[in-house]
Amino acid sequence: MAKVLVTREMVDEAVRALTGRCELDLYTGPPEAIPRDEFLERAAGKDGLLTMLSERVDAELLDAAGPQLRVVANHGVGYDNIDVAECTKRGVLVANTPDVLTEATADLAWALILASVRRIAEGDRFLRTGKPWIWGPRMMLGQELHGRTLGIVGYGRIGRATARRAEGFGMRVIHTARAGSADSVPFGTLVAESDVISIHAPLTPETRHLFDADVFRRMKPTAVLVNTARGPLVDEAALAEALRAGEIFAAGLDVFEREPEVEKALLALDTVTIVPHLGSATAQTRAAMGLFAVENVLDGVAGHRPRALVNPEVLT
Ligand code: GLV
Ligand code: GLV
Repeated sequence: MAKVLVTREMVDEAVRALTGRCELDLYTGPPEAIPRDEFLERAAGKDGLLTMLSERVDAELLDAAGPQLRVVANHGVGYDNIDVAECTKRGVLVANTPDVLTEATADLAWALILASVRRIAEGDRFLRTGKPWIWGPRMMLGQELHGRTLGIVGYGRIGRATARRAEGFGMRVIHTARAGSADSVPFGTLVAESDVISIHAPLTPETRHLFDADVFRRMKPTAVLVNTARGPLVDEAALAEALRAGEIFAAGLDVFEREPEVEKALLALDTVTIVPHLGSATAQTRAAMGLFAVENVLDGVAGHRPRALVNPEVLT
């Protein structure tokens, strides 16, 4: 039977789907990621790895795993934690879990958009202080969405699903796209015209710190920025400074530059809504992701083509 390492406990139905179909090595440690040393040790001799975004899969790990390794199946759509070129060079298949998390992640982007423009987390924190208050025309004013412009950065599956929801809020939508297309706008135009910017681009060397001090200065002072993609697309120290200086209105973050650490300067600001990487965190979506990753890893170790293969060139 093929040997498979799973680096974090998954939802029950996903673990059940693997049980009995491979020689399963399941890391069940505390909620933190598997320690690097233990990852290197337990990867040794495995035919398949089912990994999370917190595990770095690089040349060192592939060396430690050994030449029998056939597939790395990531439990997620993003795979910036995996050195795909290095896997391809060694003939190791890389798979991910697209599509099944698109709608849940778009919902979370909207949860952060609404929380940011209407100061939901700040209002919740305020009421819990028990301080006296009474309804008033000047209290905790936010920003209107209706009639304003939503800018989508990265117009893939999740970006489009987020854009679709804007119709219900009466917003105009503009977007940038990696390859550019007839209806996309230049990044500078999007930054200057948007009242809400939602990030849906993958993390690559080109997108790292796409949002920096210069970009924040070019955004509207009433604008909000929401990131449900990957933390390093945003320079967090520059974001904290822009919020402090009033260069933008608010931000909603699901992901962090040095995840799981959160920039201290952001924690001190009431204009930031933060949640712990919950984009795909619904019972339904996490079951679908787990089952998809299981299917990918079992296909890979059996010598079949995984349904969501990132590096098809391995097979040619
Ligand atoms: C989660 O962030 C994912 O990439 O699926
Ligand atoms: C507010 O609660 C209103 O009735 O306008």
